[in-house]
Amino acid sequence: MHTFEELSRLFIERFNTDHFPKEPASLYEPNRYFLKLGGKRVRPVLCLMGNELFGDISQDAMHAATAIELFHNFTLIHDDIMDKAPLRRGNETVHQKFGESTALLAGDVMLVAAYEYLNRISPNHSSLIISLFNKTAREVCEGQQLDMDFEKRDNVGYDEYLNMINLKTSVLLAASLKMGTILGGALERNQNLIYEFGRKLGLAFQVQDDYLDAFGDPEKFGKQVGGDIKANKKTFLLIHAFETATPAQKEELHALLNNNSEDKVSQVLNIFKACGVDEWARALKEKYMEQAFDHLEDIAVLTKRKEPLKELALYLTQRQH
Ligand code: IPE
Ligand code: IPE
Ligand code: MG
Ligand code: MG
Ligand code: MG
Repeated sequence: MHTFEELSRLFIERFNTDHFPKEPASLYEPNRYFLKLGGKRVRPVLCLMGNELFGDISQDAMHAATAIELFHNFTLIHDDIMDKAPLRRGNETVHQKFGESTALLAGDVMLVAAYEYLNRISPNHSSLIISLFNKTAREVCEGQQLDMDFEKRDNVGYDEYLNMINLKTSVLLAASLKMGTILGGALERNQNLIYEFGRKLGLAFQVQDDYLDAFGDPEKFGKQVGGDIKANKKTFLLIHAFETATPAQKEELHALLNNNSEDKVSQVLNIFKACGVDEWARALKEKYMEQAFDHLEDIAVLTKRKEPLKELALYLTQRQH
């Protein structure tokens, strides 16, 4: 068994090779640039943890983990175009540095690279893994479209929001874990439990992501603070604010969403604070973490083997970047 830290190191060591050809450098350099910026690499580590819950880490799990991280990076490159984000991982986004058209293609070819790793998984497992991968990739696209659709609406409810973040964020964390367990030979019941653990963890993770987007420390966060507010994103903060604000605050929020004044971010933040989003965020994360841990508990392996997953879950929901 490995700790969270050991698994991260193990994955990063393997992952830090060149995944792309030399030429044309104008296409592949942007991808090399982006991968060098790092990132937390939590999805591949989840895959390896899922795998190790049931046995020794296999070569197939390493291929799946690599494919997942490449896929995730592809979604980030395209997400930053959609969200008009200038910063990622403390550096310029790919489209900002190399232009939108190149960022589109760099993302496309990153996705192709992900499938090349999936293709290396042994034939007895590959069909199941690729089916899950495809289902997940489709769901992420659906979530991303809903996320953009919601920018244009002021009346997004909490259930709609949950559905959206489940698709754009949770299912990839859940599938990463499940792929690891499938490759570890877990029974279907355990595969499903780990998937549900990942889904609930993903909801807590996105709550933290939304929270940091509004209140993160710019020094640590690595992304533009206030980006979601500027883009009229429907985050749990905004939804909670609409639910708890006074009529006057509600009116102000509506007005703020419909303009792009200089002080939009600071004004919206003031309303968020007045509505007690801090406390709400903490409670919400706790609720989903508890649900996640209940699923983890039910998995039929020794409790001690679940320690790394617990450690990673806590790290993810308390992260500052
Ligand atoms: C960012 O994911 C995208 C979301 C789903 C919120 P991460 O926070 O895992 O990004 P990196 O890979 O560590 O940069
Ligand atoms: C992104 O959600 C989810 C995917 C990339 C699929 P966000 O737009 O909230 O992610 P960040 O905040 O830019 O990392
Ligand atoms: Mg984004
Ligand atoms: Mg986005
Ligand atoms: Mg975000």
